[in-house]
Amino acid sequence: EPLCRSGVWRFHDLLPFAPPEKIVTIGEGQTILAPSDGVAKYIGLNPGQLFLQYEGMNPSGSFKDNGMTAAFTHAHTIGAKRAACASTGNTSASLALYCGVSKLMQAVIFIGSGKISYGKLSQALDYGALTLQIAGDFDDAMLRVRQVSEQLGIYLVNSVNPFRLEGQKTIMYRVLEGLDWEVPDWIVVPGGNLGNSSAFGKAFMELKELGLIDRVPRLGIINAAGANTLYQLFEVNGQRWNDGDIDRGAAANYYEELDKSHRRASTIASAIEINRPVNYQKCLRALDICDGVVREVTDQQILDAKAQVGAHGLGCEPASAASVAGAKMLSAEGVIAPSDRVVCILTGHQLKDPTATVAYHTTDQDEFNRVLGSRGVQRAEFANR
Ligand code: F0G
Repeated sequence: EPLCRSGVWRFHDLLPFAPPEKIVTIGEGQTILAPSDGVAKYIGLNPGQLFLQYEGMNPSGSFKDNGMTAAFTHAHTIGAKRAACASTGNTSASLALYCGVSKLMQAVIFIGSGKISYGKLSQALDYGALTLQIAGDFDDAMLRVRQVSEQLGIYLVNSVNPFRLEGQKTIMYRVLEGLDWEVPDWIVVPGGNLGNSSAFGKAFMELKELGLIDRVPRLGIINAAGANTLYQLFEVNGQRWNDGDIDRGAAANYYEELDKSHRRASTIASAIEINRPVNYQKCLRALDICDGVVREVTDQQILDAKAQVGAHGLGCEPASAASVAGAKMLSAEGVIAPSDRVVCILTGHQLKDPTATVAYHTTDQDEFNRVLGSRGVQRAEFANR
């Protein structure tokens, strides 16, 4: 019964690793696929062709719960008592919630210094996670948590964990369900640590092998311009994925360059402020399977797109809006056609990271009076922000 109420575990047949009696579920994955003609117009698509897969309705407010229930279940199956992650905020909120609700494990969380939004940090703290802010950013925290969990035998739930990706495949199952199993032309998703992208590619490969779909959609992975490793390696350097050795070489050289120049990831979309995506190799496979493309979008493009998502319902956090900004870019390039059916993944809830949103929307006296009439409000009533 509870398994049926989970948007992840009702696909248990496709996630056979989990013994049913060990499954830890808190009602994750009950999300919606919402058509949006308003956002379709913004992107440049015909009416009826855009769908927003809104993952903000998950218990911890982001898509991470899809993967966390699977990793957490595996951790429980092998008797883990502590689970750790590095995070830009959503993974940690999700892990902390599963630990808090189930009381099966202690959550151990590494975050970059001053890097995560207060909304997300407050979730981890409230749910009782042991939370450590380290000197450095997400990439440093990721490196550190891998060392620490290895040394101390703590179960690692970052998306290097393959069970995370198993759970996140169900996002695509639900998209297909919402479209009566008619495969869309495009899935567009923000790229950070590249867990989602990798999981989506695997999902489509498997569904095709099982004969449940007869073709796969194309994949658009969208980096923030200030955190654009995948874009640089895949699109700019033009390294292709057929020869794994070359890929590893290209990535290693690129990371060396990053180190030498002390270049750090930097974007308003804090969730995807990542320069060393742990799923890089897996993601190349997903790009291969789904004839994918990668684009980078600026912070301004992200915020503009986010405002459109807000104005037409739902809302989302900045990182999520990268998908809409990227779809708009691909549409302007003619890579996505107006008649294509496109699904943009909205990865996290609007309330997760509201600081940038408030700064973006300003109403000045002129605008106020334009709407309300010239006597609406006097100059003296305006406080400076
Ligand atoms: N969108 C949101 C809201 C995220 O929190 C993340 C990743 C992504 C997109 C990128 O997804 O890593 O699968 O490519 N957040 C991680 C975290 C890194 O720690 O919460 P990805």
